[in-house]
Amino acid sequence: MAKRSKFFYRRVIIVITLIMLLFIIIKGLTGLVKTLFGDGESESETSTATEESSPAIENTASEATSLETSQSETTPSETTPSETTPSESNSSETTGSTTETTAEVNMNFSTVNFYKSRLDARYQAYAALNPNATAYEIVLKVNMNLDYAFYGMIESVIKPESLSALCNKYYALPSDFTPGNLVQVTDGYYVNDGKSYMLRTEAEEAFKQMANKAADDGVSLKIISAYRSNNYQANLYEKYKNNNGQEAADRFSARPGHSEHETGLAIDINDVSQAFENTDAFKWLQSHAHEFGFILRYPKGKEHLTGYMYEPWHYRYLGTALATKVLNAGITYDEYYAMQLLE
Ligand code: DAL
Ligand code: ZN
Repeated sequence: MAKRSKFFYRRVIIVITLIMLLFIIIKGLTGLVKTLFGDGESESETSTATEESSPAIENTASEATSLETSQSETTPSETTPSETTPSESNSSETTGSTTETTAEVNMNFSTVNFYKSRLDARYQAYAALNPNATAYEIVLKVNMNLDYAFYGMIESVIKPESLSALCNKYYALPSDFTPGNLVQVTDGYYVNDGKSYMLRTEAEEAFKQMANKAADDGVSLKIISAYRSNNYQANLYEKYKNNNGQEAADRFSARPGHSEHETGLAIDINDVSQAFENTDAFKWLQSHAHEFGFILRYPKGKEHLTGYMYEPWHYRYLGTALATKVLNAGITYDEYYAMQLLE
């Protein structure tokens, strides 16, 4: 009995040891397989993340400027009651803590009535950088190219001969561009400084009518700058840059190709100084310029939109109908173009 028990216990111990060894071997093999091949779930997460951060979005985001500097300004929706702002309610859902996911999932840019599907990736990238902005604000800023720094992205002026052509820090005229129908400004309509001035015939005619009406009202309007060639603008900008430094020059002087004066549709009137704002001539222009097709192109407090400091002397000819619409909208021409004219 004692001998049998001894054999029995030995067999039990051997069986238990074998079972344990088998268990250890199976466990070890399973771990090795996982280490070598990974598991399916984490692989799909990795591939999704790679697709989301496409090179196009990264490039845009890295060059984008922030909306924050402009948030204290009157928003376009406040100044243009006729515009719809259907996505504004989305903005409260777009919080800083959920930045990219929320912007991409919840913001419906296509409900903004000047949305452009070709700019979708840029709307997404700008929304991610500005989590508190509404869809309306994002679409407007991107349509204006303000997701890039000034001169950070340059396209050709679309239809440069059009009276509505937009020339700014994002849209440049070719260096050899000369407007088709330039005429000399008639004597008596410009300051007597020994120079002669040229304008597109439509703008020249309109200015003369405007100056005649102003004269009837006892106000003198004289051109002190009109059409400039690319070469003239290049020299002017270079001079300002040398005298004031590039940062200061960029606030009041366009780089060659980017000046509205090169379109033959822009004029400076009477006095290139901030003091012009306090003159009767400026007050008269505020009330009547649009009736003759002109708008104040660089209004006060809009440098973050136009790229230029307040220039009470600089007017742009758009034709009476368009000038009146821009004036009534109460927004800069850059904004109006991005909302109403951009194709
Ligand atoms: N002063 C304006 C911005 C120009 O240089 O065209
Ligand atoms: Zn000017």
